[in-house]
Amino acid sequence: MSEQSRIEKATMADAPLIQDLVSSFASLGEMLPRPLAEIYEQLRDFLVVRDKGRLVACAALHIMWEDLAEIRSLAVLDEWRDKGVGALLAEACLDEARALGIVTVFALTRQPSFFERLGFHQADMMALPRKVWGECFRCPKFPNCDETAVIIELKARPRA
Ligand SMILES: CC(C)(COP(=O)(O)OP(=O)(O)OC[C@H]1O[C@@H](n2cnc3c(N)ncnc32)[C@H](O)[C@@H]1OP(=O)(O)O)[C@@H](O)C(=O)NCCC(=O)NCCS
Repeated sequence: MSEQSRIEKATMADAPLIQDLVSSFASLGEMLPRPLAEIYEQLRDFLVVRDKGRLVACAALHIMWEDLAEIRSLAVLDEWRDKGVGALLAEACLDEARALGIVTVFALTRQPSFFERLGFHQADMMALPRKVWGECFRCPKFPNCDETAVIIELKARPRA
């Protein structure tokens, strides 16, 4: 990343840009689309990377339960790929999970090897019942999901 680009919390003005970025990959079948209303509702989950004011990448850490969170909507503009931005965003989500005391983070993805490089391992989707019966069952693709579940266990921080 250049000196003028950095990870920041998303703001309301980012929501349509996040939707456009995610939609550009969703139209290729690389990830699921996100309705704008859902992005607004969950805006506080989102981190973005801006370069000279332009949004070039996003990711969200969504809390599912006291010990479980999901990295979703991780997307990097094509011309910004392979520069370490995706890994930085995923690590930032994991840092946030650690700070919150969340011990398990997962993602549903068509790019499992990207996450495996970061220490995630592949898992059976059914090991995530809160996700499957809380959200996935509403997906038009359910139960024929074409994504792979990847999980990482984080070390719990000692209580103060
Ligand atoms: C997958 C994605 C987020 C990766 O972002 P990126 O910024 O290009 O990735 P990085 O440059 O941080 O790559 C980190 C490492 O993962 C590797 N990598 C990148 N994309 C990869 C992929 N699709 N599969 C396997 N490894 C990958 C890189 O080579 C790099 O390896 P290194 O540390 O040995 O050099 C990006 O390609 C993207 O937005 N894809 C479309 C949306 C998507 O599939 N999101 C996935 C989550 S739902």
